Amino acid sequence: MSQTLKAIRGTRDLLPPETALWNRIEATARDVFARYNFGEIRTPVFEDTALFARGVGEETDIVSKEMYTWEDRARAQSEKAQSLTLRPENTAGVVRAYIEHKLGETGQLQKLYYIGPQFRRERPQKGRYRQFSQIGAEVIGPPSAGSESPLRDAEVLEMLATLLDELGITGWTLQLNSVGSAADRARYNEVLRTALDSVVSGMCADCQRRAVTNPLRVLDCKVPEDQPIIETLPRIADSLDEESKAHFAAVTTALDAAGVPWTRNHRLVRGLDYYTRTTFEFTHGGLGAQNALLGGGRYDGLSEGIGGPHAPGIGFAMGEDRLVLTLLALESAQVNEKAAAFIAPLGNAKDAAALAKINAAALALARELRHAGLRIELGEGSFRLKKSFETADKIARKIVILGEDELQSGILTVKTFATGVQTKVPRTELAAFLSN
Ligand code: HAM
Repeated sequence: MSQTLKAIRGTRDLLPPETALWNRIEATARDVFARYNFGEIRTPVFEDTALFARGVGEETDIVSKEMYTWEDRARAQSEKAQSLTLRPENTAGVVRAYIEHKLGETGQLQKLYYIGPQFRRERPQKGRYRQFSQIGAEVIGPPSAGSESPLRDAEVLEMLATLLDELGITGWTLQLNSVGSAADRARYNEVLRTALDSVVSGMCADCQRRAVTNPLRVLDCKVPEDQPIIETLPRIADSLDEESKAHFAAVTTALDAAGVPWTRNHRLVRGLDYYTRTTFEFTHGGLGAQNALLGGGRYDGLSEGIGGPHAPGIGFAMGEDRLVLTLLALESAQVNEKAAAFIAPLGNAKDAAALAKINAAALALARELRHAGLRIELGEGSFRLKKSFETADKIARKIVILGEDELQSGILTVKTFATGVQTKVPRTELAAFLSN
């Protein structure tokens, strides 16, 4: 026997009924985005490797360890071999598209959302996959369009609070910080490097390496023994210049006015290099170790970093897989949606012509009811009545019996499983009866 092929580690198949929940999440997100006047952008799932190296940052874990990169061979004389990468995130791709289509020249703020798969070669665990789906949005434009305003940050955060509420996700925490301008961060990196000099020898191997390569990443360390040391390190808040401090204060003032609760997390520096000023995550206790439902922040220098015009922006991406996990754990997600009715044609398995006739009549009835907007499951005339009832009870709220008599009289027998009540319903009233 040949070897059974399986889905690749870290990837998974999504099956019904869970996919109904995915669809509901996406429909809610699209609805909220529309109300906030966002439009959808769809970018390719693979891009030039250089986009991520320059956009997300060569030194980040994502780029240095987690990308699916390959050398795309030339197929014709006119083509060049090229290094390509499956997108590990979508902000760099959206900003590339912003530059490529000269969206900045409209002078308008671009408010773009996306829903789609991302790929990172991380160690798979609950809530962490190698192919996962993000629902994200970016607000980007020339400064003259107001793209730098702290109001944009607050509006995006307020929209996220609305979206999570409408999805039925309760108990989230908004963690907020500012990583300042590029100059603030460079200053803080030096302060941190100096402070680490005297304590880093007592820290984990990763921190010892980070202290040299990228001191900011020490703040992401999860090793329990290192935590008391990290708590004593200087905070980035003290390295911010007046402008960055005022920007952050304006964001939090607007959030307070809108009634969106937040907490300051001085260690929230995020794992991507493009961030400036506001950074945030919405976390949820029900998720375990991978507790970030979503993350985002401002990236005022990203466009220039990949060869575009000055175009400040802010955005976020939610882990859709994690939204699903959270909703399933909250039990607020009714994923097992039953059909309104199961149509059971009553045939005679031994009489092929009669069986075909009743099955055909059942298909016509199912079509009629489906056109009336009902979710209908169609049985088979060779089933015994007992088998039809057993099947129907699992997947539908009611069963409609369609035999020769019913066909003649136009009066159908309907049983409601929840109550056990059997009712005679004229065909003309059937759709209305089944909608209840
Ligand atoms: P990120 O924090 O790398 O940010 O990812 C955002 C969210 O994607 C995470 O909070 C998490 O919910 C989900 N996520 C990340 N990796 C995985 C994984 N391996 N498995 C399942 N879910 C995962 C970004 O991607 C930025 N592009 C966000 C952004 C947009 N910043 C500004 N604009």
